[in-house]
Amino acid sequence: MCGLPPWPYPKLCAHRGAGKLAPENTLAAFRLGYAHGYRMAETDVKLSADGVAFLLHDATLERTTNASGRADALTWRELAQLDAGSWHSPPYAGEGLPTLVALARWSRANDVTMNLEIKPTPGRERETGAAVALDAKASWAGAGVQPLLSSFSEAALDAARDVAPELPRAYLTEQLPDDWRERVMRLGCIALDVKHTLLTRERVDEFHAAGMRVATWTVNEPASVADFLAWGVDTVISDAVDVISPQRNTGSRTNP
Ligand code: G3P
Ligand code: MG
Repeated sequence: MCGLPPWPYPKLCAHRGAGKLAPENTLAAFRLGYAHGYRMAETDVKLSADGVAFLLHDATLERTTNASGRADALTWRELAQLDAGSWHSPPYAGEGLPTLVALARWSRANDVTMNLEIKPTPGRERETGAAVALDAKASWAGAGVQPLLSSFSEAALDAARDVAPELPRAYLTEQLPDDWRERVMRLGCIALDVKHTLLTRERVDEFHAAGMRVATWTVNEPASVADFLAWGVDTVISDAVDVISPQRNTGSRTNP
């Protein structure tokens, strides 16, 4: 049994800020997650045409903004003009796309730790991994808790490690490869962040026995959250921030 790495993160993490209750990955969403008691949030980070790290899930703009086409075809100056709130509901009209730097400022001011999912647009994996890690390193310099960097892209995680080896990394996956041990070791990850349907109590034990922390997404049923926490999952990521209360479910904000 290996020792487990430090994990200064809460047991519950708000997916994309506040799940579906507010426009995902906007500052309004992070504020709403905070209002529901969440002190960790997950977000998706990619690069503009001119290399600015900003928050957006999709590779294209049409689902969550008033523009269309590839998100990385526009410069940050152009992206900053977009409305990323009207698609959701009228109270959020005019909500903007945040840069990673703006999110960091809010996160540090409010003591909310972040799970930064590096979500490169296709073909920009290493560039995005490196840029997000460098921004995170600068923006959270001196912070008590560093953000967790996670990605489905091994190239992005590898590039992040090259430029900021000290930032914690999580191997994000929806299919567990047979050689997961080799992969997480090679990338220097401290955690596996796996789709919840892959988890069993035995697998949680197996990951812990390998010296890995365990996170899982996206869990929206209170009974399932309770089960995963009882199995020893270190952090559960949820959309249901209005239903699943950090205080009620964990009694404390962070893991021992
Ligand atoms: O980071 C966990 C989760 O967000 C991964 O899936 O598609 O919601 O970014 P997705
Ligand atoms: Mg994500």
